[in-house]
Amino acid sequence: MKKKKILVTGGTGYIGSHTIVELIEAGYDVVCADNCINSDESSLQGIHELTGVKIPFYRVDLCDREHSECIFTDHPDLSGIIHFAALKAVGESVEKPVLYFRNNLNSLLNMLEMCLKYNISSFIFSSSCTVYGDTETCPVDEQTPLKEAASPYGRTKQMGEEMICDCLANSKTQSILLRYFNPAGAHASGLLGESPMNAPQNLVPAITEAAIGKRQELTVFGTDYPTRDGSCVRDYIHVSDLARAHVLALNYLLSGKQAEAVDIYNLGIGQGLSVLEIIQAFEQVTGVKLPYRMGDRRPGDVVAIYSDYSKASKNLKWKPNFGVEDIMRTAWTWEQNRSMKTKSY
Ligand SMILES: NC(=O)c1ccc[n+]([C@@H]2O[C@H](COP(=O)([O-])OP(=O)(O)OC[C@H]3O[C@@H](n4cnc5c(N)ncnc54)[C@H](O)[C@@H]3O)[C@@H](O)[C@H]2O)c1
Repeated sequence: MKKKKILVTGGTGYIGSHTIVELIEAGYDVVCADNCINSDESSLQGIHELTGVKIPFYRVDLCDREHSECIFTDHPDLSGIIHFAALKAVGESVEKPVLYFRNNLNSLLNMLEMCLKYNISSFIFSSSCTVYGDTETCPVDEQTPLKEAASPYGRTKQMGEEMICDCLANSKTQSILLRYFNPAGAHASGLLGESPMNAPQNLVPAITEAAIGKRQELTVFGTDYPTRDGSCVRDYIHVSDLARAHVLALNYLLSGKQAEAVDIYNLGIGQGLSVLEIIQAFEQVTGVKLPYRMGDRRPGDVVAIYSDYSKASKNLKWKPNFGVEDIMRTAWTWEQNRSMKTKSY
């Protein structure tokens, strides 16, 4: 039987590259598109080493409609799109809201237009728990009302979800919106991981960079939040668990099991850990003492959020296989491998 072909946008990035490996292992053909604004092509090498497959790659800004359309004329047999491409730094979005709205919404709009024009049957969107805003409900499930987003980044995800619902209603494309909690960790092989172009704003890569000496110290943003130790609480999900969820969501859509045009799933592990608890977990797992200091709150951060993922568990048959120790161990291995490579050049 002919393999189904999937376009992965943002595929040289962190979650995209892990998902491509899972897709290839599950028997899909993959086409990758990315402008490498926050990644580089080295992840394609990691994908090749892990799967033996060299995937077609388009270096393209998906905001450029005309250039992006080449992917669809070259590959008229696409069955689905997994749309990861976006800028994702909450703090940067507060400083540069125009950049975030332009990049995240225009690229999405172009992909939705291509779905309609080329009759793509399935569309999976990287949403985020930031759509819940500074919620007082924990754990949050998919029915939890959305509050005002705490940052322009979060608002691009809220608006993105609405654009998908409006554009795909009464179309031949069905969609799943995956609301990720806090993806972290790296591939068990040590060949793929988070490798952003700019200084990472997410906690785990900031921890590993501080541990290896790439940054002098780590700052804990806010120590007076109403949580058990004063630091923010988040739900950390291993990137390999997250990547596998995309394959399950895609299988679900392609097998015709979804009745709705658009459906939503939370992806977290259902457990909230504070920043200080995460630092402690890293130190325990690796034996490395972290240089960190207490700092002020950072604009755009919510107090505490963790997921109820029972809907993904029931419909997609997904459950997390990894915990915080796996996250810390794999992230640390990845950071050490990455630093060795940089030094040897
Ligand atoms: N990592 C997280 O903490 C997190 C949490 C929730 C949701 N998400 C979402 O998941 C998706 C993937 O995130 P990630 O962590 O892998 O980030 P990432 O930055 O590693 O990957 C995103 C990729 O998209 C590319 N990109 C951005 N704008 C583009 C454009 N206009 N055209 C082409 N490519 C473009 C970047 O170069 C990058 O490779 C994003 O949509 C992000 O908002 C991430």
